[in-house]
Amino acid sequence: MRHKLNPQVISFTQSGIRKFADEARTIPGIINFTIGEPEYDTPQAIKTAAYSAIDRNQTHYPPQQGLLALREAISAYETKTNHSTYTPSEIVITNGATEGLAAVLLAVLTEGDEVIIPSPMYVSYAPIIAFCKAKLVRLDTRSTDFQITPEALESLITPKTKLILITSPNNPTGVVLNQASLNAVKVAALAHDLFVLSDDVYHQLVFTETFAKLNGDPQLRDRLIITQSFSKPYAMTGWRIGYILADEPIAKAITLMHAYLVGGITTFNQHAAIEALNHDSTPMRDSYAHRRDIGLAALHSMSLPCVKPEGAFYLFPDISGCGLDSETFCLRAMREAKVALVPGVYFGADTNVRISYAISEGELRVGLERLKAFVEHLKTHEAR
Ligand SMILES: Cc1ncc(COP(=O)(O)O)c(C=O)c1O
Repeated sequence: MRHKLNPQVISFTQSGIRKFADEARTIPGIINFTIGEPEYDTPQAIKTAAYSAIDRNQTHYPPQQGLLALREAISAYETKTNHSTYTPSEIVITNGATEGLAAVLLAVLTEGDEVIIPSPMYVSYAPIIAFCKAKLVRLDTRSTDFQITPEALESLITPKTKLILITSPNNPTGVVLNQASLNAVKVAALAHDLFVLSDDVYHQLVFTETFAKLNGDPQLRDRLIITQSFSKPYAMTGWRIGYILADEPIAKAITLMHAYLVGGITTFNQHAAIEALNHDSTPMRDSYAHRRDIGLAALHSMSLPCVKPEGAFYLFPDISGCGLDSETFCLRAMREAKVALVPGVYFGADTNVRISYAISEGELRVGLERLKAFVEHLKTHEAR
């Protein structure tokens, strides 16, 4: 009966990142730079909140939009952190940002709509856009240090454009969009009556004191949709919990989509999420900033160009000087040098590779040494 299944679903392939991570796990002694999650465990207080919620029998169906207490806590957190004014009825608790993104795209897009996304981009957007029979339009940002220029953005807008999706800090580059990039998005969205979807899952992992963001911009409030997650700042990837912020009519539509997709989010996890909002994630963030510096200095010593990331836990060096495409580079690095990286081609940049430095400092240093030896070998013996 396979031939009767939805061809769109059949066309989905396993994420390339998974493929590399799976092979990496079979190689003894490998240093694994493919992992896109904090190496830390969930803080104890958050786990205790979940145990306690289970003991209190917080195990029944949750409200579809999410527990009111959690939405109130998020509303207060967002006001404090971003000076935004989302009421609990404008917040939807989701199964991580993954489901949040899917619920938003399914609620907004119809066949033939166009979605502009700066590229390189996170791998999970394209399949859902394809599922909606919408068209993904890539805005190649490689020549502008992964920033958006008004000219490049404007040149891609057509009468079918419905949404611009931005990710800052970005996965795979770690780059934070500057004010000029965000202005370009804002101007285009207002001029052409577009939605803006801002995937903010790395917002708490920005290394500078302040940074540009759209959250809280009153002029964009009626068209801005934000996806957030507890996964990265609180080391809660396995809890599968995140949230959406959107103007009330939009939040209502997304809640309907979300209700039919997942019903609601595990009740006791939502109690743990309330506790997570009290947790200070800055020590974790600072440890990533320190490792970013180590990684960047090492890449510099290998003469691999790399735009300085200001957040998340990724470096995205340009390996085009090594004479290999990104998949061959990563396959050989994994098998010959025992260091696993993710080919940039999976994110839309075959000239780069992604290094995730969410591993211990000791492993990071060993992995970078191995990478250096591999790159030097390629440059000396193979690249021309
Ligand atoms: C940019 C980006 N958005 C969304 C997600 C999904 O996060 P979650 O664990 O909340 O589903 C990730 C996970 O790596 C990500 O990198």
